[in-house]
Amino acid sequence: MNAMVVYESLYGNTAAIGEAIAEALRGRGLETESGLISRISPEVAAAFDLLVVGGPTHQHGMSKPATRRTAVQDAANAFADPTVEPGLSEWLTDLPDTDGKLGAVFDTRIDKPVFLTGSAAKGIAPRLQGSGYRLLAKPESFLVTMKNRLREGEIERAGSWGAELAELASVSR
Ligand SMILES: Cc1cc2nc3c(=O)[nH]c(=O)nc-3n(C[C@H](O)[C@H](O)[C@H](O)COP(=O)(O)O)c2cc1C
Repeated sequence: MNAMVVYESLYGNTAAIGEAIAEALRGRGLETESGLISRISPEVAAAFDLLVVGGPTHQHGMSKPATRRTAVQDAANAFADPTVEPGLSEWLTDLPDTDGKLGAVFDTRIDKPVFLTGSAAKGIAPRLQGSGYRLLAKPESFLVTMKNRLREGEIERAGSWGAELAELASVSR
């Protein structure tokens, strides 16, 4: 089985989580590719047996052109390759339909109760299901501090989640 992990990222946190998930999938024997949605087309991603998709939470959901602009123009943003276009929502629109391939979704969001922060993953999940993917797990969130840094332990938790996905994928084929 092979896997693709794609993510949108403005400040690098979702990218770091996505790479930790990809590394865990590789560690469990899945041939895994990974990268920013600006580098991987929906058509290429759709060819993999397992597709894992993640993005940052902006204004309670997936990013919009204006929220991405805000992040790109933020003088404190040091990430080398922020996602400008396409955004995750547009990328998902172009994802070809599949007949029951496996999927999983995650986001990053602020470390506060979800009713206050919203969750991009809750919006990504139905979009993936709408393209015919069978989700292996509930949408998962990885948390950043108010200073926009991943909370301690989140990279390790992403690795554990990736390993769990590999297990679930192996029993659901
Ligand atoms: C314009 C903008 C709006 C945001 N809105 C929310 C929000 O509604 N809820 C939340 O939890 N985090 C919000 N955040 C914080 C992001 O979730 C955080 O920057 C992101 O998880 C970091 O991921 P990244 O480094 O991959 O961009 C927002 C960030 C930006 C730049």
